[in-house]
Amino acid sequence: MGKGLKRISLVLVIMIFAAVVAACGKGGSKVSVGIVLPTKDEPRWVQDEQRFKDALDGTKYTTDILFSQGSSAKEKENVETLINKGIQVLIICPQDGDAAAAAVESAKKAGVKVISYDRLITKTDAVDYYVTFDSVAVGAAQAKYLVDHAKGSGEPLYLYAGAASDNNAFLFFQGAWSVLQPKIADGTFKIANSSEAVALKDMADLSREQLSKIIGQVTTNWDANEAKNKAQTHLTAAADDMKGDVAILAPNDGTARSIADVFGSDKAVTSYVVTGQDAEKASVQYVIDGHQSMTVFKDVRSLVKDAMGMAIAILDGNTPQTTGSYNNGKIDVKAKQTDVIVVDKDNVKAKLIESGYYEAKDFKGL
Ligand code: BGC
Repeated sequence: MGKGLKRISLVLVIMIFAAVVAACGKGGSKVSVGIVLPTKDEPRWVQDEQRFKDALDGTKYTTDILFSQGSSAKEKENVETLINKGIQVLIICPQDGDAAAAAVESAKKAGVKVISYDRLITKTDAVDYYVTFDSVAVGAAQAKYLVDHAKGSGEPLYLYAGAASDNNAFLFFQGAWSVLQPKIADGTFKIANSSEAVALKDMADLSREQLSKIIGQVTTNWDANEAKNKAQTHLTAAADDMKGDVAILAPNDGTARSIADVFGSDKAVTSYVVTGQDAEKASVQYVIDGHQSMTVFKDVRSLVKDAMGMAIAILDGNTPQTTGSYNNGKIDVKAKQTDVIVVDKDNVKAKLIESGYYEAKDFKGL
């Protein structure tokens, strides 16, 4: 090799080395699966993060988990960051189902496969798969609990819903309505806090638009404070015949606890039955203490296992197994669905402690 050639190859080696170092510096080590979750402000999603970490412990898969903190702009930024890190699969629970379409469309353009996690991303063809709990069953189970615990007839029924930007809020309410509506029609319940629901009380099946009207009126936006303020407003406006023994459809645990606190401190409310979902630790304690009547336990370990199972199938060049599909307003998205379990005071120990989901030491008075 001549002197000139030697120098060129040395320069080449240095250049390649520099490029490799630059690539590593830019993206960190290569990440194969990116995970984006909506917010750290709700225990539900912090729990999902932990369950992902537990599931990945000791595996060869490299993942990054980023939180969007309630902002679709931050969510899009997170997705771009992960694309730049070279992910092949994106597991994403959208903050806002419609708004997340833009983020997953850029993932699709980059050749990344997209798995919608728990909440469906809507009105786009850039979603490949969906892993979810049976959300219609969640709402139906909440409503059935209220029906099973109704006292006599003409009981005031307070309705609350999740955020209209979350497709699940529609599924939950749809499931609940299918069970509640016949019991409103037969006089078991009288609706206390929604003129829109009263206007639709004779309709067994509601369209998306009709659901929107009710949800728009009784939304909590998945926000415990908003739920509290709404409950206060409703009780302030309620006539005496809308108090006494009451039933409350609360969409999840965070909102259930704050709604329960408001109803529990109103002297004209003799007793209340209130629903929830997620089996958050604070709500499990509320159930044990009799402040919250029930919760719907959604075993996050199953969802994480399904999502990672799908991601690994994709990475290995296989087709993930699905059990059905959900229409997202644009396409039918192939989905894998997990069942849910109703938990109240009677079975809390068996379902959540003896099952190994939580430890007894985290609760008082079990
Ligand atoms: C989830 C619930 C959660 C709610 C608020 C829904 O999409 O399915 O588990 O409580 O969002 O974060």
